[in-house]
Amino acid sequence: MPPAVDPAQLHLRALEEADLTAAAALAARAFGVDIGDPALAESWRARVAHPLTTDPGGCFIAEREGLLIGVAEAIRRERLWCLSLLTVDPGIQSAGAGRALLQRALTYGADADTGLIISSSDPRALRLYAGAGFSLRPTFEASGPIDRTSLPRADPRVREGGAADLEALAAISRETRGAPHTSELEFALRSGCRLVRLADRGFAVARPGRGVWLLVARDEAAAAPLLWAALEIVADTERPAVRWISVEQAWAVQIVLRAGLQLAPYGALCVRGAPGSLCPFLPSAPFA
Ligand SMILES: CC(C)(COP(=O)(O)OP(=O)(O)OC[C@H]1O[C@@H](n2cnc3c(N)ncnc32)[C@H](O)[C@@H]1OP(=O)(O)O)[C@@H](O)C(=O)NCCC(=O)NCCS
Repeated sequence: MPPAVDPAQLHLRALEEADLTAAAALAARAFGVDIGDPALAESWRARVAHPLTTDPGGCFIAEREGLLIGVAEAIRRERLWCLSLLTVDPGIQSAGAGRALLQRALTYGADADTGLIISSSDPRALRLYAGAGFSLRPTFEASGPIDRTSLPRADPRVREGGAADLEALAAISRETRGAPHTSELEFALRSGCRLVRLADRGFAVARPGRGVWLLVARDEAAAAPLLWAALEIVADTERPAVRWISVEQAWAVQIVLRAGLQLAPYGALCVRGAPGSLCPFLPSAPFA
């Protein structure tokens, strides 16, 4: 363990546009992702830039001796607070910077009565979130090749959506996870994701070749065909096709197993207060 960072040397300040490239590189390093490919580097930068655009007051960096050592981003949507990012440079982890950044991020939107965090399996993260009053719901991820022969015939009620649908979907997110996903859906559509919708009962977002990004529904009868449609969009991926499947999502467990995917425990859905039913719900990792 590195020696604790002397609080007098730890400087927290607002994340600024000029920090974005370095902040994205640090976040990727912390998650062990190589962003040598310029397209991937740009997608990490865009992901870190989104909360800065919507919630500049919720984005912070930690510096020591003028060097960037950590990044935290929180977003606020109506009555929901959500931690979008918490990362510390691998060379200086376990020295207290993560705790300091989380405490600062929690001051943003502190009056929100509900909160969500999609946690990695990092024991430091789990400790911090539990200590901050979040209940931890362990989650699974599902990976492996999708068995294309398992995909049912497309449900005609599921149709492709776009920007014009977003306002109508707000009520579904509000009911299920406590607040709309509107600006996050705009971000996803800009980033190459596709959106499918089943009337006013639910929607799913998936990135071709990557994975299911988000699914929110009012009932399992709508969620099931939406997840199948999302898996069809994902097609082939070397990453886990579906992640953060919490214990409530037995409907999703059945589908990913039928699709030939393998389940493994990874991470946690961390919840404060009562944001909504949180089921059927497969959260978006960065924006819940
Ligand atoms: C998770 C992360 C942000 C934590 O930041 P950090 O600066 O390394 O952590 P801190 O030093 O603030 O320690 C946080 C808590 O974990 C404890 N801790 C430190 N090292 C630990 C270890 N190896 N195992 C378990 N707990 C540990 C600390 O004691 C502290 O708890 P306390 O304040 O109650 O004593 C950072 O390690 C990281 O970037 N991890 C990789 C990316 C990631 O998974 N981010 C979380 C995404 S949800």
